[in-house]
Amino acid sequence: MAKVKSNNSRLIAANIIKSVIAEGRSLDSALERGLPSTLSTQDRAFVQAMSYGVLRWYEKLNFLLEKLLRKPFRKKDSDLQALGLLGLYQIGYTRVKPHAAVSETVSATKKSGKSWAAATINAVLRNYLRNREELDQEAEKIPHIQTAHPLWLYDAIKDDWPEQQTEILSNNNLQAGMTLRVNSQKTTAQAYLESLEKQNIEASLHPFAREAICLQKAVEIDQLPDFQQGAVSVQDAAAQLAAQLLAPQEGERVLDACAAPGGKSCHLLEISPTISELVAVDCDAKRIEKIKENLNRLQLKATLITADAALTGDWWDKKPFNKILLDAPCSATGVIRRHPDIKWLRTKEDIDNLVIIQQALLEALWPLLAPGGRLLYATCSILKQENELQITRFLANHKDAAEHAIIADWGITRSHGRQIITGESGMDGFYYACLKKHCAT
Ligand SMILES: C[S@@+](CC[C@H](N)C(=O)[O-])C[C@H]1O[C@@H](n2cnc3c(N)ncnc32)[C@H](O)[C@@H]1O
Repeated sequence: MAKVKSNNSRLIAANIIKSVIAEGRSLDSALERGLPSTLSTQDRAFVQAMSYGVLRWYEKLNFLLEKLLRKPFRKKDSDLQALGLLGLYQIGYTRVKPHAAVSETVSATKKSGKSWAAATINAVLRNYLRNREELDQEAEKIPHIQTAHPLWLYDAIKDDWPEQQTEILSNNNLQAGMTLRVNSQKTTAQAYLESLEKQNIEASLHPFAREAICLQKAVEIDQLPDFQQGAVSVQDAAAQLAAQLLAPQEGERVLDACAAPGGKSCHLLEISPTISELVAVDCDAKRIEKIKENLNRLQLKATLITADAALTGDWWDKKPFNKILLDAPCSATGVIRRHPDIKWLRTKEDIDNLVIIQQALLEALWPLLAPGGRLLYATCSILKQENELQITRFLANHKDAAEHAIIADWGITRSHGRQIITGESGMDGFYYACLKKHCAT
């Protein structure tokens, strides 16, 4: 595509969207690269909202775009495809006045270096305004288009969650709230709630995660009292249940096998300061740096190892662990609200590959657990394949393993483990299963 430097926020958003849909970049990374620091706060927020919105509704917007175009844009013109999607998104899902959505998107097209396409974008958007009802009705007839999910994922959700599918599909398209984790080494959830009140930040305690506070409206982290001093972190409540479930005791040695960026490692250290050691392993050196930053801000200590956790011969010192957290790499289908690009980037084949990786990690880490110890398996996936089916197979193949049932007021009991459906009590979709190792007889 023509490289045109512009401060036009629609053009910037279109380029970010293009990076995701044409180059396979994650939205986080596309935003990091594509959002100029010179942009005003308001324009940054606009670009972010447009990028998230288009990717959230991509499947439906693209269906409409293809109907409105005589022939789809060529791959090298995916920036124009992104501009078309952006125009349709503004008309269908935002408070931008339709005529402004059309004229501003056409104007962004003229600045894109492909002004020859301005007439096409103009025609597409005006056509949509004229025939909106009819086109929307066509989209409504196709469930995966109407709910903006790729067909394979729509089918997987429908198969795995026949009763909850409508709720899951609709929650996937909502914006997730902002949840804090209070550092119990520094303060309590109740006391922090009061300091938020003093700053006129509306919030409430979470019903299930003990250190969690849910904000009524997201704020910038520098508005949070004592954030830099380590009073709180940002973490979804479902993710906060991990430390609560593993509950390491005094003197225990704990492994967090897939630890970066360290949310759960830090939480474990906050609630269990008397453990003998927390070993945090991750295969991604850049993400290990994030753990370091978090530990420093929260004034906590852990042993950090950059390694493939499954290759235990490379990093394990042969001293067993009493508790292991395996927060396994997964499809992240439970956090689509936060990362709508997952719907576009993930494929059915990825799930099969992830299941193999998760299985390899479980197999490799089990021998590191001391007899009588516990391993908590966690994913932010809502797919059975990665969750209860993974644990069913593991238990069938390991006679020294048994399930330690999670009794809780949250989630749904599965054949093994518990599943939180995306949106339950404001939480991300998450799965937990706790395994215990028999003591030697
Ligand atoms: C779901 S994220 C972990 C989130 C983390 N537990 C937290 O709460 O902040 C999964 C992590 O697993 C890491 N990972 C993937 N495969 C791995 C492997 N074979 N060994 C170690 N880490 C791995 C990824 O780099 C990623 O940081």
